[in-house]
Amino acid sequence: MTTLPKPRQPELKTSLPGPKTAAIMERDSQHLSTSYMRPYPFVPDHGEGVWLTDVDGNTMLDFFAGIAVSTTGHAHPHVVRAVQEQVTRFTHVCLTDYPQEITTSLAERMVRHVEKPGEKWRVFFGNSGAEAVEAAVKLARNHTGRSHIISTIGSFHGRTYGAITLTGSKTKYKRGFGPLLPNVSHVPYPNPFRPPLGATAGTCGQAVIDHIEGLFQTIIPADEVAAIIIEPMQGEGGYIVPPADFLPKLRSLCDRHGIMLIFDEVQAGMGRSGKMYSFQHFDGQNGMNCQPDIITVAKGIASGMPISAMLAKESVMTWPVGSHGSTYGGNPVAAAAAHATLDLLEGVVKHSGCGDSLMENAAQVGEFIMAELKAMQAEFPFIGDVRGAGMFIGLEFVMPDGRPDGKLRDAASMAMFERGLLNLDCGEAVIRISPPLILTREEAATGLEIMRDALRALK
Ligand SMILES: Cc1ncc(COP(=O)(O)O)c(C=O)c1O
Repeated sequence: MTTLPKPRQPELKTSLPGPKTAAIMERDSQHLSTSYMRPYPFVPDHGEGVWLTDVDGNTMLDFFAGIAVSTTGHAHPHVVRAVQEQVTRFTHVCLTDYPQEITTSLAERMVRHVEKPGEKWRVFFGNSGAEAVEAAVKLARNHTGRSHIISTIGSFHGRTYGAITLTGSKTKYKRGFGPLLPNVSHVPYPNPFRPPLGATAGTCGQAVIDHIEGLFQTIIPADEVAAIIIEPMQGEGGYIVPPADFLPKLRSLCDRHGIMLIFDEVQAGMGRSGKMYSFQHFDGQNGMNCQPDIITVAKGIASGMPISAMLAKESVMTWPVGSHGSTYGGNPVAAAAAHATLDLLEGVVKHSGCGDSLMENAAQVGEFIMAELKAMQAEFPFIGDVRGAGMFIGLEFVMPDGRPDGKLRDAASMAMFERGLLNLDCGEAVIRISPPLILTREEAATGLEIMRDALRALK
């Protein structure tokens, strides 16, 4: 086993935006797509560990990891070495036509985290989360011979046509792009902090199940439903953790009606929640099972190299030869980065100061961050809710009457940024905390101090 050296901790300095940043942002605004958002004046130059330095020399603490992607931090030596080695061997052949050992072994490795005795899984590799979602929906339709897909309100599944149809978080993703995919319906997500359907935190899981069964009686014939797709912990919609009984009940509902259950683990998966897949927080609890039929992963899988995976039970992956593929999917350089990322997540290679594995570190340091944020609620009553698992943490801002306060969230997010903390919003009034999983307790404390300072400035 290799133990890697602890990265140097750069000094935090901030004067934003600097002249080089401003100049690049101006050129960017002239030549890049008008669809790109530019919420913060930051242009990265290089990174090390949990720190990113911009082109003007400002070093920021990264609490968003490129939207939950940079699991192993920036320029992790183990990942860099793996990529460099693979680049010198071959960079592309095309997995659709030729096997390559590096992706074969990656698939073998990934299914080990979901397979149960007597149940084999298979993997299809793509390049992005949206591609994994497209593959999942195509497979579910092909396997069942049914067409209808049920998704959730607040969900995010990507930007391709199928994926935006499934997405239920913001209308801006759909406006002007129709017609979208037919036969897609959305049901509420059981959010314990804002329970839908007139339910309570404790009953909202059952209420959503009853709602779906109601739809099957009135609007959607259950035997025409191919799949229910859901994020086991909702990301873009506000970093929401459903009640413990919900996913097992959803599994039973799917079993009753022959429906494929797809868990979109693109944001919460790959160790971020403290377990490899976030549904595993609920699977096997109180004797209840919520093993899905299909899983989609991307983001944290390869420390920023573009690769995604759609995992399915062997009994479900029945689509015929040639029916689906991808030129770049499962690219060997990205696969090498995924192996190196898994080495660190699983603890085959240790990262100094992060316990036995990055997954363990995500659980432990995440618990510390969550406890500290909960303690902060006493000082800052506008923090209505702190929730999550591992390093998948949401902080919801509320008005005195409890309604979501998006304006205050925006001000808080900017105040944190100005003090050197990269962060990102989600939901209506939530800041998501999704740092690299190599974040140590000391680095977490630095980030929390910046947050406290920013929130005090708001008061
Ligand atoms: C849960 C979930 N699914 C799918 C996607 C789409 O991934 P990508 O942007 O890589 O296509 C995202 C991206 O944020 C996501 O959070």
